[in-house]
Amino acid sequence: MPVEPTRADKFSFGLWTFGVRAQDQFGSATMSVIDTTEVVHKLSDLGAYGLALHDDDLFPFDATEAERRSAIDSLKKAVDATGLVIPMVTTNLFGHPVFKDGGFTSNDRDVRRFALRKVLRNIDLAVELGARTFVMWGGREGSEYDAAKDVRGALARYREAFNVLGQYVSDKGYDLRFAIEPKPNEPRGDTLLPTLGHVLAFIETLDQPDLFGVNPETGHEQMAGLNFTHGIAQALDCGKLFHIDLNGQRGIKFDQDLVFGHGDLQNAFSLVDLLEFGSVTGGSTFDGTRHFDYKASRTEDAEGVWDSVKANMRMYLLLKERAAAFRADPEVQEALAAARVDEINRPTLADSEDYDDLLADTAAYERFDTDSYYDAKGFGFVRLQQLTMEHLMGAR
Ligand code: GCO
Ligand code: MN
Ligand code: MN
Repeated sequence: MPVEPTRADKFSFGLWTFGVRAQDQFGSATMSVIDTTEVVHKLSDLGAYGLALHDDDLFPFDATEAERRSAIDSLKKAVDATGLVIPMVTTNLFGHPVFKDGGFTSNDRDVRRFALRKVLRNIDLAVELGARTFVMWGGREGSEYDAAKDVRGALARYREAFNVLGQYVSDKGYDLRFAIEPKPNEPRGDTLLPTLGHVLAFIETLDQPDLFGVNPETGHEQMAGLNFTHGIAQALDCGKLFHIDLNGQRGIKFDQDLVFGHGDLQNAFSLVDLLEFGSVTGGSTFDGTRHFDYKASRTEDAEGVWDSVKANMRMYLLLKERAAAFRADPEVQEALAAARVDEINRPTLADSEDYDDLLADTAAYERFDTDSYYDAKGFGFVRLQQLTMEHLMGAR
């Protein structure tokens, strides 16, 4: 299997990756902003498919109409010249001081009205650029102090905002869906809609739930100690995986935004296996872009930024290659069967059965030999895991 990325792999990157300049709480920028046209051409040369962006990545928060238009037009020119796609657009509701207590859920109603206007304007831009997905990461929607935020009120305002935006998109007839991105904390002490599960439940309370899905990020679920692959499987189970942010994270700490696979490698392996081969018929489960939301480490220089771009795509393709080899190995197939992995897909009751039949089945209970599970009938999961690790390490 080739490990050179091509457009068919549908890899995308965020323009913000090339504009954040590796600043952090404790230190100033260590690198320059890379020009948008250069980003588009370079990504295209490296085999990427798409570029995603916030409004403020493309033009400053306080840009004049002319400055805004000129930035949009030069992006369009670069995109037309290269064939790169803009699959996703998102809004910055976290950077400017006006959003210090959030956008849609700020206690200040004037800020909430301003935030909605900023997003409505940016939805028009998303459509102009041909994006089909609109991500909403509520980075500043949250609190540090429990008494300072009426969480039920804030959720009502969050819901109100999403309903207004959903109404706008359907009234305009736009072919655009929203993907809400959870994160447990940072920059706020506690963020509203902190995990994938919280978002899934919240979506069902909206006026048009079909317009809304999730944009889970590897590191964000792992910051909460959760299994990212499990979360993605659940999002797929309810048809809500509208977008994905792939990156690396090492444990429960600040958001690292490392290169994909440079964090929990085992979980990255199971994720790629799920996305590429995990459908019931053995094929891909997800046809969206494989988006990398990584940030260049402060220790890098300009060359290191591009090394990281290449590393993300190469890690994904190497994991895809490893997953294919894992699945093709007869010993793995035999271990999977011994571990009864596929038996989970067999309904617990037969088609013709109901609970009365189950209650009448003495083999299911009265005659069932529970003692036979003592000292016997192991599942062989460790053997399977060892085979997995050997494939992952290239030892098989
Ligand atoms: C982060 C977030 C962001 C969002 C982006 C899109 O932790 O910084 O993941 O990178 O994905 O702002 O809205
Ligand atoms: Mn993200
Ligand atoms: Mn992140």
